[in-house]
Amino acid sequence: MKKRIVVFTGAGVSADSGISTFRDADGLWANYRIEDVCTPEALRNNREQVIEFYNMRRKESLTKRPNAGHLAIAAMEEWTDVCVVTQNVDNLHEQAGSSRVLHLHGELMKLRSERNPELIYDINEGWEQDIDARGEDGALLRPHIVFFGEDVPMFDTACRIVAAADILIVVGTSLAVYPAATLVYYVRDRQVPIYLVDPGNPDTAMIRNPLTHIKERGAVGVPQLLKQLKDELAE
Ligand code: APR
Repeated sequence: MKKRIVVFTGAGVSADSGISTFRDADGLWANYRIEDVCTPEALRNNREQVIEFYNMRRKESLTKRPNAGHLAIAAMEEWTDVCVVTQNVDNLHEQAGSSRVLHLHGELMKLRSERNPELIYDINEGWEQDIDARGEDGALLRPHIVFFGEDVPMFDTACRIVAAADILIVVGTSLAVYPAATLVYYVRDRQVPIYLVDPGNPDTAMIRNPLTHIKERGAVGVPQLLKQLKDELAE
């Protein structure tokens, strides 16, 4: 019987693809104030700056490719039951070939109506959102991103996915943003093994499950871990 593995990722899994994390020394939040670009108030009071911020991140993301960590995670679909729950808004997991990816904090390459959150539009070509672009409901469009202070609509679904996991792998997240960070506590019981791949030290003090921390970059540690797990599960 195939094991169900959930891979929970943060900005660190894309760091080796050249995409800045948020809280590392050179991270995004070292260069931008969250309240200026990633809150509903910022969108209301300084729409142009917010749209420009996401246009710039979208433009940058178009030059980035999946790294060995993304590719190893995608290759898991050949040998086990795997689902990716990511905090990232880039589409590098999908580009690497992962077919089951849940984005907790939205998706950079999508826009949505400011009025009706069900009206979501792919940015099929290029990177730029026209500041006056409107949806079919006539309302202005906004980045399909969960801003600080906004609900995380996919969180309950993510909890159910984690609760069904036989193994939880956590890659490249500081576990500093809620409610996403609490996902590690939604495993069905304290026997579920948790593997952490991160060169830094995320806040795992409250984790009571068997925890293995591979202190490596994602592009190195994830392929290593997944080879080990594949061999173990094949026994
Ligand atoms: N490989 C793996 N992990 C790495 C690498 C790397 N090459 N480089 C850094 N990391 C780790 C850091 O040690 C840290 O634990 O990635 C993590 C990055 O943490 P954050 O920058 O806080 O990113 P993340 O945890 O994804 O942030 C969560 O915060 O700003 C919001 O919505 C945004 O989704 C984001 C959320």
